[in-house]
Amino acid sequence: MSTAQNTLTSSLTSSESIRLEDKYGAHNYHPIPVVIDKGEGVYVWDLEGKRYFDFLSAYSAVNQGHCHPRIISALTEQASKVTLTSRAFYNSKLGVYEKFITDFFGYDKVLPMNTGVEGGETAMKLARRWAYDVKKVPANEAKMVFVEGNFWGRTLAAISSSTDPSSTNGFGPFVPGYIIVPYNNLQALEDAFKAEPNIAGFMFEPIQGEAGVVVPDEGYIKGVRELCTKYNVLMIADEVQTGLARTGKMLACDHENVKPDILVLGKALSGGVLPVAAVLSNDEVMLTIKPGEHGSTYGGNPLACAVATEALQVLVDENLSENSERLGKKFRKAMQELIAQTDLITLVRGKGLLNAIVIDDTEDSHTAWDLCIKLAENGLLAKPTHGNIIRFAPPLVITEAQLDECISIISSTVLNFKR
Ligand SMILES: Cc1ncc(COP(=O)(O)O)c(C=O)c1O
Repeated sequence: MSTAQNTLTSSLTSSESIRLEDKYGAHNYHPIPVVIDKGEGVYVWDLEGKRYFDFLSAYSAVNQGHCHPRIISALTEQASKVTLTSRAFYNSKLGVYEKFITDFFGYDKVLPMNTGVEGGETAMKLARRWAYDVKKVPANEAKMVFVEGNFWGRTLAAISSSTDPSSTNGFGPFVPGYIIVPYNNLQALEDAFKAEPNIAGFMFEPIQGEAGVVVPDEGYIKGVRELCTKYNVLMIADEVQTGLARTGKMLACDHENVKPDILVLGKALSGGVLPVAAVLSNDEVMLTIKPGEHGSTYGGNPLACAVATEALQVLVDENLSENSERLGKKFRKAMQELIAQTDLITLVRGKGLLNAIVIDDTEDSHTAWDLCIKLAENGLLAKPTHGNIIRFAPPLVITEAQLDECISIISSTVLNFKR
C-alpha cells in the first residue's frame, strides 16, 4: 500500500467509506450503513470506535467469534510457511487435514473447495456422475430435486433452482434437469421420486437459512433419509449455514441422527478467516470423479487446511454446540416474552443460535429494515431477510451475560419502536 493509500484508510470516516463503496463498487448489496473496522469475539467496532454486538456473524461464518486467537495463530503460522501450492503437487497439510475432517464427520473422503456455492456445485456434479456410473441413468438424463425457498448461492447452477424472483430475474437461461418440490412435505418428495426414475440427488438445507430460518417439522430430515434410500437417490445436505454447531448440534442433521450421502460445509469451516468449503462423501460417490474432471486452484490449499483444522477443533474444545443449544433456548424464550408485550413481532423460530423473528408487516415494507437501523444505533447488528424477517445469529462464543445484554437491547428497541 502506498503512503497516500495508507493515509486515506487511517483517516477515513464511516460516511466517506460508504461513499467510496457506493461510487466504485458494484451495487449488488444493500448493507446496513455501519462500517466495521475491527472485530473480536462477539463484538465489532466501526471506524469511529463505536462497539456493536454482531448478531449476524457474517451469515454464520463467524461461529467461533471474530479473530479467534487460535485460528488466527494457525493462519499466521501457516501463512509464513507456504500458502498455495495448487493441486499440481502434494502439500504437507492437505492429507493431514483430509484425514482429520473425514474422521471428524465419519466419511471416507473429502473434496476441498473454497466457497459454499462451489461446494453445492461439486455435490451436484458428484450426484450426476454417480447417477450415470452407478445408478445407470441414461446419458444426460439425470435430474436433481430441490425445494421451494432453497438458497445455495449465486452461480447459474444455484439460481436455476431458486424460486425467488430477485435471484433469477434477468439471468436466464437456466440449468435444465431440476425438479422443485415444496419444503417440509415428504409426500410431495415421494411423489416426485416415484414419477421420475432418473433422479440423481435431492439437495436441501435441514433448516432454511436465507428463506428466513424455516425449521421443518420434526421427522422431516429422517423422512428425507428414508425416501432417498428407498428410491436410490443421493441425500445431499447443504449444511453451509446450519452446520458447525450453529443449530445446537455439530450438524443440523444430527438432531434426527441422520447421515446424508453427501455433506456440504463452508462458512464457519474457517471461522470467518478465509473461504473454505468441503464436500464429504463415501467412496462409492467420491471415486466416480477422476483426475482432471473437477477442481479449483485454491481448493485444498495449505493455508485453508491449517485454518479449517483449527476452526473445527475450536468448536469442540469450546463446547460451542452445547452453548448454542442452551443459549438458543434462552433467546427464544425471551423473544416469546417480548411477543406477549408487543404487536410488532408475531413469531420467533429457530434452533440453537440460528433464529429469526417475523415482523408484523408485509415483505415489501420498511419496518424490519428500520428496526435494524434502530438496533444498530443501540449497539446490535442484524439484517432483515425477505423484508419482514430478521435473523439473529450471534457468534457461538457468546456468554450468557452477553446474551442477556443483547436481549435487553432487542427488547427495549422493539418496545420503543415507532412505525
Ligand atoms: C445454505 C447455504 N448454502 C450455500 C451458500 C453459499 O455460500 P457462499 O456464499 O460461500 O458461496 C449459502 C450462503 O449464504 C447458504 O446459506
